[in-house]
Amino acid sequence: MADARPLPEPALGTRVIFLGPPGAGKGTQAGRLAGHLRIPKVSTGDMLREAIAVGTPLGRVAGPLMEKGGLVPDDLLIDMMEERLDKPDAARGYILDGFPRTLRQAEGFEYIKRGDVTALVYVFNVEVPREELLKRLSGRRWCPHCQSTYHVQNNPPKDDSLCDKDRTLLIQREDDKETAVARRLAEYDERTAPLIDYYRGRSRFHTVDGYRPPDAVFAELKTIVATEKAAS
Ligand code: AP5
Ligand code: MG
Repeated sequence: MADARPLPEPALGTRVIFLGPPGAGKGTQAGRLAGHLRIPKVSTGDMLREAIAVGTPLGRVAGPLMEKGGLVPDDLLIDMMEERLDKPDAARGYILDGFPRTLRQAEGFEYIKRGDVTALVYVFNVEVPREELLKRLSGRRWCPHCQSTYHVQNNPPKDDSLCDKDRTLLIQREDDKETAVARRLAEYDERTAPLIDYYRGRSRFHTVDGYRPPDAVFAELKTIVATEKAAS
C-alpha cells in the first residue's frame, strides 16, 4: 500500500553544502537529502563525468585531470556552477555535492548567490576515518549510465555486477584506483579541508559522524534540518 504520510514541506531557500573527504558518503547522503527536501542534488563530480562521457570541451580538459585524482581548475568549476544554479529547478534551493572545494571556489559561490539574502546555508562536514575511506573507495562500483553507486560489501547490487536501476554493467571508477585515491586525499587535505574553518563561522555548520550506517547518518541530517527550520 502507498505511504499516505504527507511529504515534508519543501524548504524554501535551503542551500546545503556537503564537505568531506573522498568516500565520506557525500554523494550517498546528498541524494537522500535532496529526495527528502525535494530540491535538486547538484554533484560536480557527476556533472564532470557526464561532460567527459559526452566529450564537451570541459570534459576534454577535466578527463585527464580527474583520472589522476587532481582537481579541475577553479574558474571552470565556478562558470559551470553559475550556469547550473541559474536553472529554474535550483530557485528553491539545492544540495551541493563536491562544490565548493577550494577557498577560491567558496568565494565564487558567494558571488553566484549574491543578492540571495534569504538563503539558509547549511554545511555538513562529514567525518570518516582514513582507513574506512580507503575501504569504501576500493569497494565502490559505479553505473556509467545513471551514475548510481554501490559497494561490493556495504551496498551490493541485487544482481551481481548489474545496476539495479538500468541493468548496466557496473565498473570501478578510474580515480578509485590506488594511485589516484592517494592524490585525491592529498588534494582534500591541502585544498578542501581549509573550508572547514572558512564555513564554521559563516554558515549553519554541523560536523556529522559519517562512520555509521547510511540510515543513521541520514536520520541525523534530517533531525538537524528539521530543528534548524523550526528555530528559524
Ligand atoms: P567527486 O565525484 O566529487 O569525488 P569525491 O569528492 O572524491 O568523493 P566521492 O564521490 O569519491 O565520495 P563520496 O563522499 O561522494 O562518497 P559516496 O557516497 O560515493 O569528484 C571526482 C573528481 O572530480 C575530483 O577528484 C576532481 O577531479 C573533480 N571535481 C569534482 N568537483 C570538483 C570541484 N569542485 N573542483 C575541482 N575538481 C572537482 O560513498 C563512497 C562509497 O562508500 C560507496 O561505495 C558507498 O556505497 C559507500 N558508503 C557511503 N556511505 C556509507 C556508509 N555510511 N557506510 C558504509 N559505506 C558507505
Ligand atoms: Mg561522490
